[in-house]
Amino acid sequence: MIEWSPATIKAFQTTLLDWYDENGRDLPWRQDHEPYHVWVSEIMLQQTQVQTVIPYYQRFMTWFPTVTALAQAPEERLLKAWEGLGYYSRVRNMQRCARQLLADYNGQWPQTAAELSDLVGIGPYTAGAIASIAFNEPVPAVDGNAYRVFSRLLEIDADITKPGTRAIFEAAISKIISRQRPGDFNQAIMDLGASYMTARQPDTAHSPVKSFNQAYLDGKELAYPVRTKKPRPQPFDYVAVVTKMGPDWLLTQRSSQGMLANLWTVPLIKLTDLDLEDEYTPTELVTATVAYFKREYQLALTAVPLAVRPVTHTFTHQKWTIQLLQGQVAPADLAFFAGQTVRASDLSQYPMPKVQAKIWDRYQSTQPKHAILPARQ
Ligand code: ADE
Repeated sequence: MIEWSPATIKAFQTTLLDWYDENGRDLPWRQDHEPYHVWVSEIMLQQTQVQTVIPYYQRFMTWFPTVTALAQAPEERLLKAWEGLGYYSRVRNMQRCARQLLADYNGQWPQTAAELSDLVGIGPYTAGAIASIAFNEPVPAVDGNAYRVFSRLLEIDADITKPGTRAIFEAAISKIISRQRPGDFNQAIMDLGASYMTARQPDTAHSPVKSFNQAYLDGKELAYPVRTKKPRPQPFDYVAVVTKMGPDWLLTQRSSQGMLANLWTVPLIKLTDLDLEDEYTPTELVTATVAYFKREYQLALTAVPLAVRPVTHTFTHQKWTIQLLQGQVAPADLAFFAGQTVRASDLSQYPMPKVQAKIWDRYQSTQPKHAILPARQ
């Protein structure tokens, strides 16, 4: 790692903030410094791109304009607000945090990163972002962007997948961050990381801070940030049974524990829960699925395989491969079924994960053009 002199630090701050004043992105959450606005946007922006977040953020603010509104929201509405964003525990934790603020903090946000870290769902990055942007505390906000930008600027060789590395970056950034405008400094770093100092194909030749970029000057930008290889997502096989009972669709609600908790999908069964050999024919898959419906749900299913590619969806630690069946169940009591029948026109009321949107799309591609489309928002 290289060290900058006080004069270099000053020059860097000036260059960065001048560039930000001219070129910083005009984003909806930058219109004021309300901690609630900063918090919601920062949580959404974890794992999700700015362009995707913008409409979600705007809708969230109309549905839940205040901490109190969020604290009081019904879970269905929360999940609907987050539908498609993924990592649904983020929004559940936000509601817990909103309730904590009202119950234990009189509805007033604490103003330092150290105190903010005591709130549910607020880790070191989010605490630093809120403290610096909303409250002007000169603290770093270290996320993937900051790791990339500062590792290149300073040639920091620490492995960013190792737990102790955050402290190394925080110490280095603390020496450089603007004391007058820490929030703008941190957001300028985010904009730099999204424009010139990107992960792949950085455009450093045009970057406003290229002369400060040691890795670039040494011709080894792409070696930063240093990270050991991620473990591959584990594969899981599923069958999705796109099923109707009479005119209505059959949806199940996932368990309140585990992945995609409480979200709605068509019946989605792990192949390991079916009685199948390692090798099986489409007919055997149908037979095993019919037996499963009988055994688990007490429902009489008739089904056919759909001649389409399986849907694939990758989560952080799992890769799902989902084969599609189309089915019909005889009208019956749903007492043993964790779900319900839903009119096509009501489908959009149910919060569904992105993987379910893919299942609808793939299913639709097998249907004649005039088929009833599940409404999509
Ligand atoms: N990524 C994370 N936080 C951000 C912010 N406040 N603005 C733009 N991109 C971001």
